[in-house]
This record gives sequence, structure tokens and C-alpha cells, in this order.
Amino acid sequence: MAFRSAKPLQVESFLSMAKRVIGIIMNGVTGRMGASQHLARSIVPIREQGGIDIGGGEKLYPEPFLIGRSHSKLEALAAEFGISRFSTSLDEALADPEYRIYFDAQTTAAREGSVRRAILAGKNIYCEKPVAASLEGALALVRLAREHNIKTGVVQDKLFLPGIRKLKSLVDNGFFGRILSVRGEFGYWVFEGDWQRAQRPSWNYKKELDGGIILDMFSHWRYLFDHTIARVRTVGCIGATQIPERVDEQGRPYQATADDMAFATFELEGGIIAQMNASWTTRVYRDDLLTLQVDGTLGSAVAGLRHCKTQHRVNTPRPVWNPDIESMHDYRRDWQDVPDNSTWDNAFRVEWEMFLRHVATDSPFPYDLADGARGVQLAEFALQSWHERRWVDVPDLKLD
Ligand SMILES: NC(=O)c1ccc[n+]([C@@H]2O[C@H](COP(=O)([O-])OP(=O)(O)OC[C@H]3O[C@@H](n4cnc5c(N)ncnc54)[C@H](O)[C@@H]3O)[C@@H](O)[C@H]2O)c1
Repeated sequence: MAFRSAKPLQVESFLSMAKRVIGIIMNGVTGRMGASQHLARSIVPIREQGGIDIGGGEKLYPEPFLIGRSHSKLEALAAEFGISRFSTSLDEALADPEYRIYFDAQTTAAREGSVRRAILAGKNIYCEKPVAASLEGALALVRLAREHNIKTGVVQDKLFLPGIRKLKSLVDNGFFGRILSVRGEFGYWVFEGDWQRAQRPSWNYKKELDGGIILDMFSHWRYLFDHTIARVRTVGCIGATQIPERVDEQGRPYQATADDMAFATFELEGGIIAQMNASWTTRVYRDDLLTLQVDGTLGSAVAGLRHCKTQHRVNTPRPVWNPDIESMHDYRRDWQDVPDNSTWDNAFRVEWEMFLRHVATDSPFPYDLADGARGVQLAEFALQSWHERRWVDVPDLKLD
């Protein structure tokens, strides 16, 4: 009975909280990530629930100002989600002091320049990864943000996926003993665009537009390793452009100039060996689009987007190599699920809430522009490793 009466009381107290509006300029919301993950699945549901509780009897309510290149697309989004302000002029939004946060989910090539303008306008920054197309550009943004004393954040959504959170709790609880190795598989077939429409935008396959799987994905690998397993120390990478011609959104053939697959190995702090295979030219035969296997002296785990399975040393079978007979052993049955002891919101939304609290209340937020720059550093060094055909050390960033 006590449990039943608790919820309405909580709802009532939430409704009676003072509402603090926080304006967010959202640039690139007509794109895939901007529209779906950031607007429709993060900011809109936060608004629908009335905001987020930031303590002290206050709730924070996001008020977006949509920015993009197409007036008609913006108008349609604004109407769909009940948003009053939108414009094709970034300057108009940056000039409005009511909007304290600038968010960027534009193409990678467009990000650095717009983020720089927003910092100069004194806005707090939250943006997609990679934060810039080059390490030099990313570091310039970090320094400029420090000079202007603003708060910054970078999308590191994979950290907030249920499967990765379960994996992190295993690491934090010492489940693995000494971690020996990490093996990740990411990717799926991206259609060429001729007989079936491509699932990803054509700029992804053009080097000259800052496309490429290494620049796109290695930011993810960096924060996943650094924050979940151990800090990245060295990278060795080989990439390729395996599909040289694709067909764009208008049905026109184009030369694919960017890497569409990359296999990389890493040394992590503590002598851990890691490998990540990323490909848009592979067909999926695994439990998820991203899987990470971690092997340790005391146990192993395999994490996907939502699930995580473990095998402790005491449950480890003794495989026998004999290809002359049909194997009767179901290896997957030797693994146990980490239970869903919590409910999990959309990963992008969880990070948005964390960043909004950080801006409003100074609560901690470790995923800042400098952390984003580390992702760009790893991508740049992986490209260097591939082109120079050698391993490259990944030193701590010099931020001053
Ligand atoms: N966090 C993640 O998991 C994740 C996943 C995919 C993409 N991303 C990142 O998000 C960003 C956007 O990716 P997307 O897949 O949504 O791209 P998209 O092509 O679907 O959207 C790009 C957006 O940028 C705008 N834009 C501005 N200038 C442009 C230009 N010159 N050419 C084309 N578009 C321009 C478009 O109008 C659109 O709103 C990229 O930086 C990408 O790396 C992150």
C-alpha cells in the first residue's frame, strides 16, 4: 500500500515545482541523428514529462530553437513537436540571450565552424561526435571554450546503453579479475544505393566531406575504452574503401573516396589488448550490431546494445578439438544474462538530462569537449597508423 501511494505524491510534488526554462539552439535537427535521437527521443519527451527535476524544488524545462538549412523541413518539425521558434539563420539564434546552450548535430564538416561561432557568442556547447574533423580543430575549440569559460559536452551515447552499463558494472565490481583482452565487432551492410536505398547519408562515403568509418567510429571506441575498460595507449589500424562506387540520395552514382571498413588493434592501460572491427561492408552474424567481448582471469562477458552475458571461471567448459565428429556442444548455453535490475531510458536522452543538469546546477559532467578531442585524436592517429603502416602511440592531450 505504501508503494501505491508513493507515486501520485511524487507526481504531485513534481507538478508543483518551480519551472526554470532553458533555451537550446538545436542545429542539424533535420538530419538523421538530430531529428530522431536528439529531438524526438530526447528533448521532446523531456518536455512532455514537464522537464527534469534539478533539486531545490525546481524543474528544468528545455525550450528548443530549431536551426537548419531548409525552412520547410524546420517548419514541419516545429509543427509536429509544438516548438515555437525555428530559423535558417544561426546568427539570429546566437544573438538571442534566452538561448544559453548551442547543440550541433550537423554533418561533421560543418560542426567546427558553427561551434566556434557559438562559443564566441558565449553559449554553452553540447555537440555530436566527432567534435571536429581534425585534432588541431578539436583542440582549438577546447582552448576557445576554456577562454570563454563556458560549459561543454559531447555525445557519448554508447556509454548509456544498457548493455554497456551492465559491462561497466561488471568491471567496477571486479568480475573479470585481471582484464586480458577486449574484442569488438561493429557494423552491418550499408546498401550501395542502386537497387536499394542506402541507410546512411552519402557524405559518409566521401573523404572530401569528412566522411569515413574511422573518423566516424573511433570517437566511440575512444570513450568506450577510456570510460569502460582502460585508457587507450597505442593504436594500429588498417582501413579500406571496399565499395568504390555508390549511389546518392538523388539517385546519382558517385565515387566513394572514404574508408568504409577498418580493423584496429589497441593497447590499453595495464597491458590489455583490444581489437575493434568496424565495417559497413559486412553482413551480421552475431547477437547485435555492436558486440564487445571482454576476457579476464576470473570471467568473461559479451555486451551488446541492451544485453550482457557472462561466463565465470567456475562455469567455463573444457572444449575438446575434434572436427571429425559433429559438435553437440551449444557454447552459447554456457553464458548467463546480467539481469535488468533497472529500467533504461534512451541513451541519448539520459546524457541530455545529465548535461542539462550540469549547465543548470554544476553537477559533474566528464564528457566535455576535451574528452571529445581525445576521440578525434584516436581517429587521426588510426588514420596515420594505416597510412604509415605502423603502430602509433596515443599520448595524453596537451590542453594548455
Ligand atoms: N552518436 C552517434 O551514435 C552518431 C550516429 C550517427 C551519426 N553521428 C554524427 O552525427 C552527425 C550527423 O550525422 P547524420 O547521420 O545525422 O547526418 P545527416 O546527413 O542525416 O544530417 C546532417 C545534418 O547536417 C545539416 N547540414 C549542415 N550543413 C550541411 C552540408 N553542407 N551538407 C549536408 N548536410 C548539412 C543537414 O541539414 C542535416 O540536418 C555526424 O557528425 C555524425 O558523425 C553520431
